[in-house]
Amino acid sequence: MDGRLLSKLDQVHSFLWKDLDERSETYSCTVPGIQGRVAVKVFGRTTQRGSEEAQLLKDLEHPNLIRLLHVLSCNPLCLVFELCQGGSLHKLLHGASSTSSREFTVDHRLRAVAQAVSGVAYLHGKGIVHSAVRPDNIFLSHPVSRGPEGAVMPQVILGDLGLARFDDNEGAESTLSFGTLRYMAPEVLLRASYELPSDVFSCSVMMHEVLTGSIPFSDLNIPSHILVLKVCAGLRPDLDSLRACGAANPQVVSIIVSAWEEDLHSRTTSEELEQSLFELIDLRQQSSLEVGPALPGDR
Ligand SMILES: Nc1ncnc2c1ncn2[C@@H]1O[C@H](COP(=O)(O)OP(=O)(O)OP(=O)(O)O)[C@@H](O)[C@H]1O
Ligand SMILES: [Mg+2]
Repeated sequence: MDGRLLSKLDQVHSFLWKDLDERSETYSCTVPGIQGRVAVKVFGRTTQRGSEEAQLLKDLEHPNLIRLLHVLSCNPLCLVFELCQGGSLHKLLHGASSTSSREFTVDHRLRAVAQAVSGVAYLHGKGIVHSAVRPDNIFLSHPVSRGPEGAVMPQVILGDLGLARFDDNEGAESTLSFGTLRYMAPEVLLRASYELPSDVFSCSVMMHEVLTGSIPFSDLNIPSHILVLKVCAGLRPDLDSLRACGAANPQVVSIIVSAWEEDLHSRTTSEELEQSLFELIDLRQQSSLEVGPALPGDR
């Protein structure tokens, strides 16, 4: 870490992440004037994305959106965020200790998705497109803990607004970077046009991934350019795989399918998606209180 920055920190506790393109590094630190540990994201060569991220986040506040606490320095640019001690949702699902994620019931998983969608819907209400909704940009407030009824899903927090922008900012370009294609809507893949419904499409793919525990399309083993062609021609993650994890009930399938519609104008809005998810969660909770497991195959 840059020596000029080190003098502004009380302590660096651990290294959390380094961006592949060396655009940013994130550390867990303590900082003078802020209680407890925070996440400090230090930007390298390209600071523009960081300053846009700070600009967007400074007036935003929602329980499912990452909180920017402070801009520590402008050279190098260094942003202080609330620390999400549970790491990313991607790590929970696929990391070394991903076995713990298998303990989660369908209801836990739906709740996690609904919280992430709440963060997206809040941004959309402000006219902001996130542009990179996927499990490695969704964080967990705390590590998974265990209560009397098993694993407890921590609060889910949408992060990484590095590509976010106002929907009407037509000059802004979308970036098609490898590794993120599998979450991208056809209009993004075809025209690099990222609009509010494009985030909803990403939410649907993420929902499928959270419910099944499998990285979307990982079963196909095809090169990314073929995947792009296939998604544009209508390929979507396999709905049958929902059955294997007890989540193939009609409401779940209908929510997913209407959020990954080809035509972005026919797609559910993020607000509708949020509402249907919370309604489904409530319904499942009520019926399990009345008659045990709500739907065939439920865990
Ligand atoms: N507030 C935070 N609390 C805990 N971990 C964080 C936090 N912010 C980032 N991280 C860790 O760092 C990783 C990368 O963070 P983030 O997605 O914000 O950066 P990035 O993808 O490198 O961003 P960019 O594309 O804007 O350079 C996350 O997946 C997570 O593991
Ligand atoms: Mg990221």
